[in-house]
Amino acid sequence: MPAYLDNNATTQPAPQVIDAVVSMLRDDWGNPSSIHRFGQQARRRVDLARQQVCRLLHCQERELIFTSGATESNNLAIRGLLEARAPRRTFVTDKLEHSAVREPARQLAERGYNVVYLPVSPDGLVDPQALKETLDRHADDVALAAVHWINNETGAIQPLQELGTICREHRVPFFTDATQAVGKIPCDLAALPVDLLSFSAHKFHGPKGVGGLFVRRGIKITPQQLGGPHERDRRGGTENTPGVVGCGVAAELAGQFLSGDGPARGRAQRDRLEHSILRAVPDTVVNSVGAPRLWNTTNLGFPALESEAILVLLSEQGVCAAAGAACSTGSLEPSPVLLAQGVPEKIAHGSIRLSLSRYTTDAEIDDALRILPRVVDKLRGTLPAASAR
Ligand SMILES: Cc1ncc(COP(=O)(O)O)c(C=O)c1O
Repeated sequence: MPAYLDNNATTQPAPQVIDAVVSMLRDDWGNPSSIHRFGQQARRRVDLARQQVCRLLHCQERELIFTSGATESNNLAIRGLLEARAPRRTFVTDKLEHSAVREPARQLAERGYNVVYLPVSPDGLVDPQALKETLDRHADDVALAAVHWINNETGAIQPLQELGTICREHRVPFFTDATQAVGKIPCDLAALPVDLLSFSAHKFHGPKGVGGLFVRRGIKITPQQLGGPHERDRRGGTENTPGVVGCGVAAELAGQFLSGDGPARGRAQRDRLEHSILRAVPDTVVNSVGAPRLWNTTNLGFPALESEAILVLLSEQGVCAAAGAACSTGSLEPSPVLLAQGVPEKIAHGSIRLSLSRYTTDAEIDDALRILPRVVDKLRGTLPAASAR
């Protein structure tokens, strides 16, 4: 089996999740809106899943909207808030967001909204002082501020508490794309100053095509999908019941994982991987090395190499890794996220991401440690002498 080190793209579904999805499809396939017994049994299981997710996030059941995943949640949060808060026309965000925030932001700018991008440090952190100054300046026109929690490419963890507090002080709703955080670090929405938060189940061993949006009580959003009273009139359409139930089970398992020593074990694996590569491969750069980082991610730059070439050879030899977001695979451009945080082009071009999960084995780390230095050596051997320097 190849070593799977691409868990920020997606994770393997947990066996308990697979069982729950199958039993929902096979046994409890009723429509939860139906009054009869088939419907009511499906409703019970959807309700249980909602409770399981809310327990993980520490929020109320009425504050959770099940969606088709983080992309939909991000679009709903951004468009839904901007519509609801008209005539305000300023949206504050940053250039390190996933494309599921960057693209809606770009479209808003095209439609005449004032989109303000906050500056970021070379380690990929948004500066709270810059947020404060922006909110001071645009005071009454800001409809929403959005900063992701954990970067999908580098694992850098944003100073969410500080950013959210500044938004609260300015009475500006604060949205965070928490797709790489939920299920991987504790998330206590009872304490976090966050008004909206998005996630996808497949990032924490749940099924694909399901996720959610937390909307704090009292925050109004305009629904973007009309067609029924589902999810308290905020997202029309029959629920993806197998997905939702799988998401609930995944949330419950994530809670157990977070309360044990799993994250510490994962961090030790990641650190061993990173430190050993740094020792074995001269001139390796760790992107965002100065930021607090998620335990599961390392983003390594090999100056003057092409990340695609590294990934192809790694894959041939049995290591699955990535460069940037999964959705940009196939493009020869360096990661816009790394460029936006000031990583030099020569390094950004040769950067790859290795990401672990609670299923990652020591043998997979050993494989990567054996194969990656060989791949880099081989590619360096093909470089003209001048560019290798
Ligand atoms: C930070 C972040 N936001 C949003 C998404 C989109 O998630 P999905 O494709 O499940 O909608 C991803 C997926 O990679 C992500 O990492």
